[in-house]
Amino acid sequence: MCGIVGYIGPRDAVPILLNGLRRLEYRGYDSAGIAVYTGPGEIQIRRNVGKLQGLVEAVEREPISGSPGIGHTRWATHGEPTVYNAHPHRSQSGRIVVVHNGIVENFLELKAELVAEGFTFRSETDTEVIVHLIERYLEGENLSLFEATRRALRHLKGSNAVVVMAAPEPDKLVTARLGNAGGITIGYGQGEMFIASDLPALLDHTREVAFLEPGQMAVVTRDGARLYTLDGEPVDFQVTTVPWDPVAAEKGEYRHFMLKEIHEQVRGLTDTIAGRVDVEQGRVRFLHLDISPQQARGIRKIFITACGTAYHAGLVGKTLLERLARIPVEVMVASEFRYADPLIGPDDVVLAISQSGETADTLAAMEEGRRKGATLWAIVNVIGSQAMRMADGYISMQVGPEISVASTKAYTAPLVDLYMLGLLLGELRGTLSAEQRRRLVDDLMHLPELVSEVLRREDDYAAVARQYVPIRNIFYLGRGIHMATAYEGALKLKEISYIHAEGYPAGEMKHGPIALLEPDFPVLALVPQDPWYEKMLSQVEQAKSRGAPVIALATDGDERVAELADHVLYIPPTPWLLAPVTAVVPLQIFAYVIATERGLDVDQPRNLAKSVTVE
Ligand code: G6P
Repeated sequence: MCGIVGYIGPRDAVPILLNGLRRLEYRGYDSAGIAVYTGPGEIQIRRNVGKLQGLVEAVEREPISGSPGIGHTRWATHGEPTVYNAHPHRSQSGRIVVVHNGIVENFLELKAELVAEGFTFRSETDTEVIVHLIERYLEGENLSLFEATRRALRHLKGSNAVVVMAAPEPDKLVTARLGNAGGITIGYGQGEMFIASDLPALLDHTREVAFLEPGQMAVVTRDGARLYTLDGEPVDFQVTTVPWDPVAAEKGEYRHFMLKEIHEQVRGLTDTIAGRVDVEQGRVRFLHLDISPQQARGIRKIFITACGTAYHAGLVGKTLLERLARIPVEVMVASEFRYADPLIGPDDVVLAISQSGETADTLAAMEEGRRKGATLWAIVNVIGSQAMRMADGYISMQVGPEISVASTKAYTAPLVDLYMLGLLLGELRGTLSAEQRRRLVDDLMHLPELVSEVLRREDDYAAVARQYVPIRNIFYLGRGIHMATAYEGALKLKEISYIHAEGYPAGEMKHGPIALLEPDFPVLALVPQDPWYEKMLSQVEQAKSRGAPVIALATDGDERVAELADHVLYIPPTPWLLAPVTAVVPLQIFAYVIATERGLDVDQPRNLAKSVTVE
C-alpha cells in the first residue's frame, strides 16, 4: 500500500512525479504529496488530502519545478488522512525529505527517544521518526546522506521502504527496502533515473529496471544506481527488461479500469493458455515451473496460501488439483497461515497466489514455508515481484497490469493456471490418461470463446443488476466448486458498492443464516449444470419459500431454474471444472453495474488498496 516515486535527471520532476503517482493511485488515495529540489539549498513540498487530483490542483495554484523530486500516495496506517500526516515528511532543519511505505513497528519508542533529544514532531505518522533519525546523523554527525540513511534505517523494526532526498546533496536519491513492505524498483533512462514502488509508474519512461531485495539500499544518480547491503557492502545486481506494454495501463475507451479489466479477460485467458498447452499430446508445460515426475509423485500435500480474491482462486484450486492430480490440498488465508504453525515439511509444496506478488501476509506465509523446508511455488501477475523471486518455481498470470482495486482478470487467470497445473501434475503422477488429458485440454481451448460469449451478454446482466441497486443485504450461495464463486461474487459487490453481501455454502443456510431471509433480502444462487445442480435447486426452493427474491446463475436453456427464480443470469454450457471462470464474469458485471448506478468510484473504493504491504 502507499505508492512511492522518485525522479532525478535534467527534466522538471513535477509532471513525472504526478504522472507516476497517477499510475500508483490504486495503492492508496488518502492523501498525496511531492517534494522537489527547487534551487540552491531549497526543497519545496506540496501535499493534499484525498485523491491525486487535489494535489494536481494544489500544484497548479502554487507551482513548483525542479529536480530531483520524490512523491507519495498514501493509504493511512498511523495517523488520520490529514495534510500534516501526508508525505513527504520533512526533517526539523527542512533540508531532508522522505517518502515511506510500511510500518515502523517500534516508532513510539524511537519517537520518545527523538523527542528527548529535542526533535519536534509535526505529524502523527511513524514516518517522521525516519526523517528525524536521518537528520540526527546527517546534521548531527556530519555524515553523508547515504551513510546517515543507512545508520537511521538500522534502528527501524518492521517492513519498510523509503526514498530520501536532501538539499545538501541534490545529485542523488537514496532508497531502501527493509523486509516485504512493497517493492522498490529502479528505472533506467538516458541520463535520468526513476524510482517507484511498482512498475506501472515506470513504464511510460523505461522498461530497463532493477529490483531492490529486502535488506538492500541504493544510491541513485542521473547516470545510474549503486546497490548496497544495510552494512554498506556493495551488491551485484541485474538490470532486466520488462515486457509490459505501457498502453495496457491506460483506461482507453472504458469508463473505469474495472470494466476494461473485465473485458480483458478473453485476451488474458488466451495469453494464459497460449504456448503452454500441447493439444495433440494433452500436455501442459510452464516455462518457470519445472517439475520432474519423481518430484510430482513425491508431493505429500499442497498448501495454497493467499489473500482476498487470490484466496478464492485458491479455493477453486483445491477442487481442481485434488480432482485432477489426486493430491491433498489445504487452502489457508495467508494472515492465518503465518501464525498457525502449519504442519509442513520437505515433502510439501506451499503454493502462493498473488496478483501483486507483494502482499505482506502472503510473503510471510511463503517465508514460513521456506523455514519449514517446503518447496515454494507461486502464481503471480507482477513481473519481478517479491513472490516471483522468492519462489522455487512460478507461473506468471499473463494478464498485464491490473489497476482497479477490485480484482477481476487476476482472478480468472489463476483459475486457468491451477487447472493447467492440475493437468501437469496429473500427467506426471499418472492420475490422468492421455485421453483424459486431451479432452481436458480441448475443453480449455474453448474457454476464451465461452468468456467472450458471456461478455456479449453484458447488457442482459446489467438489466438484472439495475433492479437490485437499492438493496441493503444479499446472500451469494454456491456448492462444491462454486462455493468460492459465491465468496468471490459477494466480495466484488461489497468492496465496490458497500452493500452487505455474504458468500455462503448453500447447504449451510439451514443451520442459521436462513433466519435472515425476507422479501428485501435477495439471494444470488449459483445453479449451473454440474454435480451439485439438484442440491442447489432445492436450496433455491428453500430461499423462495422464505419469501426471498432469487437471482439464479444458470446454464442456457435451463427451464427449471427459470420457473423458480425471479431473474436468471444465463451462461453458456461450460465443463464444470472450468465453470468458475464463466460464472464469475456475470457476477463481476453485476457488482460493477450496481456500484456505478449508486454513483460510486469503483476503481478506488473507500478504505481499500490494491496492494496490501502491511500486516
Ligand atoms: C487487496 C486487494 C484485493 C486482493 C488482495 C490480495 O486486498 O484489494 O483485490 O485480492 O489484496 O492481493 P494480491 O496482490 O496478493 O493478489
